[in-house]
Amino acid sequence: MKKHDVSPKSGEQVDDSEQEVHAQKMVSLGHFTQAIVHDIRNALHVVGSASTLIERRTDDAAIHHHVNTIHKTIGRTNDLIERILSFANNSEEHLGIIDLPHSIDESIQHARPMFPAGISMEWQRPLQEMHILGDDGQIYQVILNLLKNAIEAIGRDNEGSITMNLRKVYPWAEIRVKDSGPGIDVAVIGRLLDSGFTTKPDGNGFGLANVAAIVKKHSGTIQIVSNPGEGAEFILLLPLLPELNE
Ligand SMILES: Nc1ncnc2c1ncn2[C@@H]1O[C@H](COP(=O)(O)OP(=O)(O)O)[C@@H](O)[C@H]1O
Ligand SMILES: [Mg+2]
Repeated sequence: MKKHDVSPKSGEQVDDSEQEVHAQKMVSLGHFTQAIVHDIRNALHVVGSASTLIERRTDDAAIHHHVNTIHKTIGRTNDLIERILSFANNSEEHLGIIDLPHSIDESIQHARPMFPAGISMEWQRPLQEMHILGDDGQIYQVILNLLKNAIEAIGRDNEGSITMNLRKVYPWAEIRVKDSGPGIDVAVIGRLLDSGFTTKPDGNGFGLANVAAIVKKHSGTIQIVSNPGEGAEFILLLPLLPELNE
């Protein structure tokens, strides 16, 4: 018999089949959420593109102001969507065998539109496959959050560079994300992964907490390095699947 994580209260009967039904409901909820999120994202994209077209056709300052409000609201809604998605993804167990370089390729592809013109990105990856027990959706959230933070650290209107590096440091897959931003104040470096910790006026402090939760779920570790004037570097170690990486 399987062991329950939570023991039933006195007089309550919780059996395996009930847990099975609950697990299936959570999986359905996850799929349902992803389908809706997909539609909402597409709708926001249409609204954003249409308002940009309106903006281009006029010099009217009031219209520019209102369109700016629309774009800001779309940005905030997209942030909210990321949080809903991370909840849906994390609330079910779907770790499987994935090829990490390929998973990061796709994550970067999805994150591309977010890159401002002045910030370049270099992606250094091995050519061979690197298998881990993981989840592509969660890897995407990790990469997205790290890239978003790197862009915000450099500043959307500034010039800068980000390097993403993946290599095999057996028995680990090592991901490094380094930026040319101002780096991290030593006084706060220990609090970066805390949920709700932010130094940004419009930040929410959930990004790195989410990254930490996902890395933990993948049995990995995070190290943060920041030397004065050298930007910030996030080093993630995720365990490789031994039988496929000898
Ligand atoms: N690449 C980076 N360079 C400098 N500081 C960073 C970087 N990434 C994260 N931080 C710091 O960590 C804090 C928490 O990040 P995060 O959890 O993503 O929340 P948010 O981005 O909403 O502030 C940020 O407010 C910032 O102070
Ligand atoms: Mg963030």
